[in-house]
Amino acid sequence: MAESMETLRTNLSAHGQDHTLQYWSSLSSQDREFLQAQLRSIDLALMDRLIETWVRKDPPPETFAEIRPVPTIPVARADRADAKEAWDAGEEALRAGRVGLLLVAGGQGTRLGYDGPKGAYPIGPISKRSLFAFHAEKIHNAQRRYGCVLPWYIMVSESNRDATRGFFKENGYFGLEEQDVYFFTQRMVPCVDDSGKFMLEAPGVLAMNPNGHGGVIPAVVENGIAQDARDRGVDTLSYFQVDNWALKVADPFFIGYHVLRGGQMSSKIHRKIEVRESVGVHCLCDGEYRTIEYSELDIYPQLLETDGQGKPIYYAGNPAIHTISVPFIEAVYEKFDEFPWHRAHKKIPYLDGSGNCVNPAKPNGYKFETFVFDALRFIRHEPIALEIGRLGEYTPIKQFSGDNSVESAWRDQAELWASWIEAAGMDVPRNGEGRASVRIEISPQFAFSKEEFVQRARDLKLPAGRDIAIGPDGSIVSD
Ligand code: UTP
Repeated sequence: MAESMETLRTNLSAHGQDHTLQYWSSLSSQDREFLQAQLRSIDLALMDRLIETWVRKDPPPETFAEIRPVPTIPVARADRADAKEAWDAGEEALRAGRVGLLLVAGGQGTRLGYDGPKGAYPIGPISKRSLFAFHAEKIHNAQRRYGCVLPWYIMVSESNRDATRGFFKENGYFGLEEQDVYFFTQRMVPCVDDSGKFMLEAPGVLAMNPNGHGGVIPAVVENGIAQDARDRGVDTLSYFQVDNWALKVADPFFIGYHVLRGGQMSSKIHRKIEVRESVGVHCLCDGEYRTIEYSELDIYPQLLETDGQGKPIYYAGNPAIHTISVPFIEAVYEKFDEFPWHRAHKKIPYLDGSGNCVNPAKPNGYKFETFVFDALRFIRHEPIALEIGRLGEYTPIKQFSGDNSVESAWRDQAELWASWIEAAGMDVPRNGEGRASVRIEISPQFAFSKEEFVQRARDLKLPAGRDIAIGPDGSIVSD
């Protein structure tokens, strides 16, 4: 033990990071164990590279000779031959058990500021069911329709692993088989101060953050997920993010296009409403499929161009929904050294010289992250980018109010579900602005689409003019 501690100290010193042991002599044995484990988990050579590139230097942005909009597949409608063919192929892949679900839920959810994992947020407007519960109900629905098992691989991080597992346990895995829900943990990276030194948030605790949703690539391979998928005959993973309440789990159209075109990694895209909208943009940069972050729009001014009607020419916004093939993840993992990292200058609580924890008023250090969309540059086929409408597909929850918020999700839910009820021939009271004036909630286990709702709701008698919650089995609760 003493010897390996000595080696650790020597290594840290060789990389200029041995100040992290400055409180060692005053730590309890438990704290020592924790700090050692944190320090041992760090790839010091990688950190040297990141600090050299992103802290000591400030590299100019990449330049491209040519940027073009990514070619997209129009919103899929069953009356178009290609879409029908895709739907059939997607359903076939689902029935054959070739599809697994890959959820990334390891983020810190700082903007939402919820006290618990983001997936535990009670998003049901009436039932207060969580985001995880809604995703699970969609899985039940898809499993019922296709007579298949959709293994659910959920990436967590050290910051929320225990709480997430606990939440699933408390909720009986939402009725799913425990053996088909698989949690795996992404790696953490240390935060560094403006001079490139690792930061302590307590005498025996390094300030660290999860390595971004791109961390799903090494995590899938290193935690045996790729192998588990192979063992189950799963070669296609449906990737989504925990905060997109509206996601269509295992969408046959999307899976079908991916399968038919031999996709390695495919994307859904949504049309940007205006050029400055705060979403990443899918495009081709010198022929390579890239997603440019919205914070970089001014670096590539052509991305701000509009057509004759004032609409964005680079319209393909990124809703962070992908279909990814298992062998592709394994291949990208092999060259993960080439995978790009991003830095963010943030306010990071730290210990000052007297050992007091300080909450800085302005950014004082860097967090490093990888982004899953950067894997798109490694595909070796024509882009597969399927356009979606937003309602019923993309309603991310980043904060409580404003754009992409809990409040906007509740509005979208009301609009979506009111249209389903009306399509089934029942009335929804609306206010002067045309919005539903009662609260509505429909379990996605009962119906995943308007068509399915219309078909299943034939025998439902909804109470007029009252809040309505339709549960997983079609039971109605109203106030
Ligand atoms: P965001 O980038 O929106 O981050 O993540 P976040 O952690 O949810 O929220 P903020 O930025 O701290 O407010 C988009 C998705 O990627 C996952 C999140 O859990 C969410 O599903 N994610 C993000 C990870 O799984 N790991 C990460 O390291 C970062």
